[in-house]
Amino acid sequence: MNNNNNNHHKTKPKKLAISDIISMKNKEKISVITSYDYWSAKICDNAGIDILLVGDSGGMVMLGYDSTIPVNMKEMLMFTKAVAAGAKRPLIVSDMPFGSYQIDVKHAVKNAIQFIKSGGDAVKLEGGIEMIDKIKAILDMGIPVMGHIGLKPQTTKLWEGYKVQGNTALSGTKLLREARELEKVGVFAIVLEMVTLEVAELISKNLKIPTIGIGSGPHCDGQVLVLHDMLNLYDKIKPRFVKSYIDLSETILNALHNYISDVKTSKFPEDQHSYKIQNKEYVQLSKTRKSMRKKSSSPLRKNE
Ligand code: KIV
Repeated sequence: MNNNNNNHHKTKPKKLAISDIISMKNKEKISVITSYDYWSAKICDNAGIDILLVGDSGGMVMLGYDSTIPVNMKEMLMFTKAVAAGAKRPLIVSDMPFGSYQIDVKHAVKNAIQFIKSGGDAVKLEGGIEMIDKIKAILDMGIPVMGHIGLKPQTTKLWEGYKVQGNTALSGTKLLREARELEKVGVFAIVLEMVTLEVAELISKNLKIPTIGIGSGPHCDGQVLVLHDMLNLYDKIKPRFVKSYIDLSETILNALHNYISDVKTSKFPEDQHSYKIQNKEYVQLSKTRKSMRKKSSSPLRKNE
């Protein structure tokens, strides 16, 4: 295994705290990316990402579900543990899956605790004013919460599908009110998903806490993308707001084609990939085999 540390931080990177994220507002943009496993968390950390979101999108891009609705606590906790093992500096925010926080306050708190026990630093849950009691109860336990308004994939899909939010005066006003309520109750940041850029700007300017946009224009205080979308590793849905940075599917496909071809043509493994027995040991092994063969074919042995 390659132990090269490519971390762009020269000294040992300091783990980011909630207060570090909040104080980035109006100073520097916050970079957020989803991660669900050890290796990607490690690479994202080495790249200098500020927040790793263990998104419920993992249900789709890692487990192949058609939406974020089926993913459960057990799966999300496993993703969180793997990310926590791989990441040192970034803040780790775990998405609470559908059904894990809506039922009642006690249930929501119990599940939020599970994420912190599994290595997460904070939880995110979808919802505005209707979720305030659950958010408050989780915060009262000392667990930081990230809000998520605008398009809420866990429930918006059930009603109207994936549509732009905040495109009327009424819905823009409602979103601003929700964002203010979330800030008032104590969330440390709010994801704005597929909100018109003007409304996202209005919300960002009216809050002291950072907004993290996805499909919500350039005026948010930070941006989040699903890792598999920006690397071209997921082809079921391709939202317009995704910027593709590399076609990893193509790169991986080429590597696998080369591997298959090497195996079929015996080009792999080569000497450098193999382990050798010492010559004197091999000579001894041949001698032993020879004498064993002689013994088993001798008449005496047959009569034994
Ligand atoms: O699950 C996820 O990836 C998310 C982002 C889209 C914000 O919630």
